[in-house]
Amino acid sequence: MAAPDPTDPFATPADTLGLSPEEMRRLGHRVVDMVVDRAMRRNAEPAVLAGDPADLAARLGGPLPEAPVSPDATLDLMAEVALAHMQKGDHPRYFARVPGPASFAAILGEWMGTGFNAICASWGGAAGPATVETTVCRWLAQMLGLPERSEGVLLSGGSMANFTAFCTARAEIGRGVAYLTDQTHASLPRNLRQMGLAEDEIRILPSDGGLRMDAATLAAAIAADRAAGRRPMMVVASAGTTNTGAADPLDALADICAAEGVWLHVDGAYGAPAAVTETGRHALRGLERADSLVLDPHKWFFQPYDLGVCLVTRPGALERCFAISPEYLRDVQTEGAVSYGNRSLELSRRSRAMKLWMSLRTYGAPAFRRAIQTGIDLAEFAESYLRARPGTWEIASPAQLGIVCFSLRGADAQAHADRAARVSATGYACVSSTVLKGRPALRLCTINPLTTQADIARTIDMLAEAP
Ligand SMILES: Cc1ncc(COP(=O)(O)O)c(C=O)c1O
Repeated sequence: MAAPDPTDPFATPADTLGLSPEEMRRLGHRVVDMVVDRAMRRNAEPAVLAGDPADLAARLGGPLPEAPVSPDATLDLMAEVALAHMQKGDHPRYFARVPGPASFAAILGEWMGTGFNAICASWGGAAGPATVETTVCRWLAQMLGLPERSEGVLLSGGSMANFTAFCTARAEIGRGVAYLTDQTHASLPRNLRQMGLAEDEIRILPSDGGLRMDAATLAAAIAADRAAGRRPMMVVASAGTTNTGAADPLDALADICAAEGVWLHVDGAYGAPAAVTETGRHALRGLERADSLVLDPHKWFFQPYDLGVCLVTRPGALERCFAISPEYLRDVQTEGAVSYGNRSLELSRRSRAMKLWMSLRTYGAPAFRRAIQTGIDLAEFAESYLRARPGTWEIASPAQLGIVCFSLRGADAQAHADRAARVSATGYACVSSTVLKGRPALRLCTINPLTTQADIARTIDMLAEAP
């Protein structure tokens, strides 16, 4: 450990566990170089690389290090083995499930927050990070067209953000039935079960022909529950389902919720960012009427993992659900200022706001709007490319909010899964398969603005090739 400068009264050892400042700088610069070098060549790496459990355990495991190991060797091992064996969600041809096309300014924001060991729990212990979190929640609400009164909290992702919204809804409305569809993301009914809802309080409605929630079906289900003495609590709408990108008819659902005194939650984990574009705002009409909205900036808002946002349009509702004030926290809580540890189940929590703040300031909101529009346009290009090959492909679900699903004529689910796996195994692209109400399909999610039309065309051509 380098000795602190004896002439500097504030000098301390730079590292808690003993790296010298010179080593800290050298290793830090090396990390930046490795990350930027990789970013510049990501097109050349496999879009996904699976691993053999025994092989990876042998290379990355081993006994507990009782003696220091070279940090350079560990960084190399990390880049070459640990971080090589995973999905590259920011690869231009990573089309599976939901990509994660993180931007570099956001990564820098994340690094700064981590480097300064930022916490965002109480106001007294995190006034700066809390102000940044309030700022980015306000900016997001504004970009998405939500009311100014909206309040938010940043979480690890859609699962935790939806859970936070559900708890808030129950605290505001009281226990009762939640209405979902067969297209709602699987983590949402899991959340409800873990909150203690009984199976007859989790109403999974059949989606309509467009794989959306049907307003008449919902109204009938609510009426049936009331007639049976049950209390409707919350409608869980999707602003872009994971399967097809379909958006539920938010305006019509909001009318029903308003008439019934039921909470409207919108899960826009992947799709809500589309509302910052003209096309998306049209598809998501009514979004602004949600009582709570979730989006995942680590999906379509160019942030590194992890980041989910829960926005609530009823002021004070998050605190009414989650605030705690034990004697040992009272001196860091200030009346009229937000303690973010009072807005979810997370008390000690890192500042996830820095990356959003840094990237929105660095690129400006129009860059986000353009990049999101590009994702919408790319799915439309994919659809037109598929439609031009009717002998091979049928459109199973048209391009919606950056997702298109298509079926190979006459092929079963296994054949679709095999084609996706075969292309993914080449490393050229990563594609996933799905089943839409019994119909097998392949699916492209095209939300990476680095993707080109040629990338899409070549991927579809590879999928068409017989095994
Ligand atoms: C619509 C939707 N909701 C919720 C989730 C869960 O989000 P997370 O994986 O960030 O927890 C996802 C993930 O893909 C999603 O697409």
